[in-house]
Amino acid sequence: MDVKQIMKDIEKSPLKGQIGDLKELAQIYQLRHSGVNEIGTKLENLDEEYSMNYDHNPIHHMEERMKSVRSLAGKIVRKGYPLNLDTIHHKINDIGGIRVITNYIDDVYRVEEALVQQSDVTLMKRKNYIEDPKPSGYRSLHLVVSVPVFQSNGVFDVPVEVQLRTIGMDMWASLEHKLRYKTDVPKEKVDEHAGNLKEYASELYDIESRMQKIFRDLQG
Ligand code: GTP
Ligand code: MG
Repeated sequence: MDVKQIMKDIEKSPLKGQIGDLKELAQIYQLRHSGVNEIGTKLENLDEEYSMNYDHNPIHHMEERMKSVRSLAGKIVRKGYPLNLDTIHHKINDIGGIRVITNYIDDVYRVEEALVQQSDVTLMKRKNYIEDPKPSGYRSLHLVVSVPVFQSNGVFDVPVEVQLRTIGMDMWASLEHKLRYKTDVPKEKVDEHAGNLKEYASELYDIESRMQKIFRDLQG
């Protein structure tokens, strides 16, 4: 993580006027980034162990991201929270995030269980948009977990957002995201694409469920 870049972004953001101690915000970012590293390593280790013991990699790949200072400020305003460090400390759990793209639907729950059962990982929040998709058709399992981070000045419990989804769900979300943020496409066209995408979301889920069955059968 580029702490200097984060400091520059903070300097330019509307948070600057509201937040007295910019260094403290940078420290929050640094701590959250360490949380992402901790959880990322746990997930890599789990994948390696699965591959060794069950000859199967549940994780296709992972993406780690730090929330931009701009979208942090945007989120605080959108939620109607006061723009201060206390809000960022206590209300914003997704400054550090990891997206886990799995090979099969079962793997989403396999990875979740193996992660949250670890004695130093605490599940803080869980939203299952696979069982209850969003109106758009969006599917994923969203978790917020907390993990201890050991620093020179003590140990801190750090929240990390983990989004788990299959390859199909991820492919869908990427295209839908693109549609959502395209501003140069006429509204009728956006609506038409959105309608089709909603349908494709359940078709994809159907196909992934059937492929899951074949895979289960082959694994025995
Ligand atoms: P926030 O506090 O705003 O993060 O609220 P939340 O945690 O309740 O948000 P939510 O569970 O809706 O998930 C937020 C994240 O999920 C977004 O940043 C997206 O990455 C993803 N997401 C949620 N809904 C959709 C959707 O309809 N389409 C796509 N492409 N992504 C979505
Ligand atoms: Mg979120």
